[in-house]
Amino acid sequence: MPVLYCKANIPFIVPTLESGPTVVLPQQQIKAVYGLPEDVLGVHRVQDETMQLHWVFPDAHLLAERLQFNVIRNQLTQNIPKIIPRVAAEIDFGFSRSWGNDTGWKEVRVWTSTLRIVAGAANGVFCGPPLCRDIVFLDRMKDHAMTIFAGALVLNCFPKSLFPVFGPVLSLVSGFMEKRAMEKSMPVVEKRLVQTARWKSEPACEWAPPDDALQWIIDECYTSKNPDAQLHPKRVSQRLLFVNDVSMLTTAYTAQNFILDIFSTDPSLGYVDILRQECKNALSESNGKWSPEAVKKLRLVDSAIRESMRMNPFGTLTLPREVVHPGGIRVDNWDVCIPNHTRIALPTEAIHYDNSIYSDAHRYDPFRFAHLEDYESSQVKSTVTLDDSFLAFGVPGRWACPGRFFALLELKIFVANMLLDYEIGYLKKRPSPIYLLWARYPPDVRIWIRRRY
Ligand code: HEM
Repeated sequence: MPVLYCKANIPFIVPTLESGPTVVLPQQQIKAVYGLPEDVLGVHRVQDETMQLHWVFPDAHLLAERLQFNVIRNQLTQNIPKIIPRVAAEIDFGFSRSWGNDTGWKEVRVWTSTLRIVAGAANGVFCGPPLCRDIVFLDRMKDHAMTIFAGALVLNCFPKSLFPVFGPVLSLVSGFMEKRAMEKSMPVVEKRLVQTARWKSEPACEWAPPDDALQWIIDECYTSKNPDAQLHPKRVSQRLLFVNDVSMLTTAYTAQNFILDIFSTDPSLGYVDILRQECKNALSESNGKWSPEAVKKLRLVDSAIRESMRMNPFGTLTLPREVVHPGGIRVDNWDVCIPNHTRIALPTEAIHYDNSIYSDAHRYDPFRFAHLEDYESSQVKSTVTLDDSFLAFGVPGRWACPGRFFALLELKIFVANMLLDYEIGYLKKRPSPIYLLWARYPPDVRIWIRRRY
């Protein structure tokens, strides 16, 4: 029924347990409504409510000035060509540690191992060694991220009147997880702050600031409105934690889905061999080292990642927004004025599975976005190219995921490393995700793997 409304370009209201009545907007109206200015359709408050951030990070400085988002949007994205060798080295290290170098077959847990590999690679760029190779640090970062996502989902199911009772419980649990994670990161942050201060007063000293997200966060703190407050070691460590929270689970979820999708296909279709060959060619043409050009050549891998993201959105209704204009808003095909404070969301799953947008939309076709006949043409769509039929990274525009360029880099190198170094057993059936309210969760699946040489 909702699909019919969407296709007829009619908005409709669904009651949701976690956020009350929500207006679901059809695809045809995304551009007009999601393009409304921020003082008409708000984004941050509703995002913060979804993650219950004011209970998780009660420190007002953290949410008022989102310096770490600037770092992702600017320094991280601009430095992508430079960080490729680091990402490649950490992914290689992560696979060897989690999947091993043994040429005999063995079973591994996909979610746990994928998370560690992806988190290690990301932290190679966020804060470098030794933290990025410290499994206790990576697991504690993961525990914090999982706690806040699960905690916020549960808290959102209670009536708002009970938030003052259960909110502090979330603060307590996430605060405990934060303390555990920061036991590891705080000494590194403190040392870096001292080194930076010294370098600023004596630029000729032997230490040079590293090119990593921790340093970029510190630089942003120095140029912020209130450097003394922002440069507090706890606040800097929390920003590092925050960057991990928003990046770790999303990237690992995508990597896990890639594995489950491609290794549930019919082996006779040869998809894995085609992808492996593409990776092999790209790497050998670049003398065995990943370079920006070599990564760019992974166009079929890119298509297969986009297809997996299309097939596995985070949930049925995503990208929430809130009307924040006192006069409400009006949309097409509806006589009703949507009042102030109403929540709006998009039917992402219905759009991603719409046969009129994607032919045979329920079929997984890894090369859908790079069909071999289009391979040399400009029709090929990269995963980072946004449109209103592909909402995995958000709607095109200001609020789209700023980490998507980095995420795609990590995912491409992850896939190439996996296919070049490992043989993986095919699954009889694509394991289903776990549905909880609006969200999909990764199932706990084991696969058989062996090192190829
Ligand atoms: C495959 C992995 C990822 C997926 C699927 C993903 C998806 C998303 C989505 C759907 C949004 C919300 C957009 C909106 O509300 O319009 C978002 C926001 C965001 N993402 Fe990602 N993301 C991924 C990886 C990352 C990474 C690696 C980083 C950081 C390095 C990151 C940082 C952020 C930030 C900071 C925001 C909030 C932006 C803002 O409100 O200004 N994401 N992401």
